[in-house]
Amino acid sequence: MTKRIRIIGTGSALPQTRLTNADLIAAHGLESSDEWIRERTGITQRYFVTEGETTFTLARDAAERALKSAGIEASQVDAIIVATCTPDLTFPSVATLVQGALGLPSQGMALDVNAACSGFVHALAVANGILHTMPYEYALVIGAETFSNLLDFSDRTTCVLFGDGAGAVVLKKEDSESKLGLLGFDLGADGTKACELQSTAGVARGRNAGKVLMNGREVYKHAVRQMGSKDAVASVLAPHNLTAEHIDWVVPHQANLRIIEAAAQSLGVPQQKVVVTVDQHANTSAATIPLALDVAAKDGRLKQGDLVMLQAFGAGFAWSTAALYWG
Ligand code: ACO
Repeated sequence: MTKRIRIIGTGSALPQTRLTNADLIAAHGLESSDEWIRERTGITQRYFVTEGETTFTLARDAAERALKSAGIEASQVDAIIVATCTPDLTFPSVATLVQGALGLPSQGMALDVNAACSGFVHALAVANGILHTMPYEYALVIGAETFSNLLDFSDRTTCVLFGDGAGAVVLKKEDSESKLGLLGFDLGADGTKACELQSTAGVARGRNAGKVLMNGREVYKHAVRQMGSKDAVASVLAPHNLTAEHIDWVVPHQANLRIIEAAAQSLGVPQQKVVVTVDQHANTSAATIPLALDVAAKDGRLKQGDLVMLQAFGAGFAWSTAALYWG
């Protein structure tokens, strides 16, 4: 056993405005149907920000709730990492905005990570490394997105897929050996596939944030292959003499129910061990996994000592797997 980094609290935040599939179709005059969206994606509704709500406000609210659930004060947090590709501003980072708003200590670290839908697990890996190497005890890791700002509502193939939201976890470095906590990561990227899922513009290309552009079938194929990769799971579990059979819960990136089900089947994990929230939140990119963790922690599914796998895939392509003993 070793000194591990544990998740000791979770929190989440959703915008006030909820749109069912029918609401979205009516609001934008889409040639689509509730039936098509449900059957192809599993999505029934999503939340979109309105006036006064931004990636920062969602991240701040999720962080406050995570701190409360962890039972620690903002003044105790040494590092804050926000995974997002929809920041309020090009700079400074959302992390510094949250740090300032919550009054986190100025002596510490605040930065954003952009690995699109894979961002939260990448941010966890960064936080894990930093907590092990710096004289820090607590870190806040947040996934927060407002993809509604990037949607092209004339493209029915993408605009029905996404939603806004934020989820946060509080990490604690144990000062003695512990079974609970993060076991390991498997991270990867293939930038040759960048054009399959990207924004149409950016600061240095078009001087605006652009809109989502996606080759849905190509993304689908690679997402199933990577999130269903037995090798990725084995590379994280084998060093701990664990196999996929030991997994209690898979908490995957929530892009499409069909991707989630196909990946779990490929791993040989029964569907009842998979946490699904895509029906309620749609794809909130880097926020999907921490949102799902908060839901499953609050409803009692995640119990102390459970072996939990996190799996994500998204633009880049960038992908990630993490394993932890919950609690
Ligand atoms: N409503 C009605 N019809 C639609 C819609 C819609 N919203 N969208 C597409 N269609 C039509 C298409 O035009 C097509 O019509 P056609 O046969 O006349 O040409 C038909 O439905 C079938 O289209 P497909 O693209 O073959 O549908 P598919 O079953 O592949 O589902 C989907 C499309 C849902 C986009 C799927 O490919 C998918 O989920 N891809 C992955 C998406 C994803 O995971 N994105 C992650 C992004 S995360 C990140 O990193 C930011």
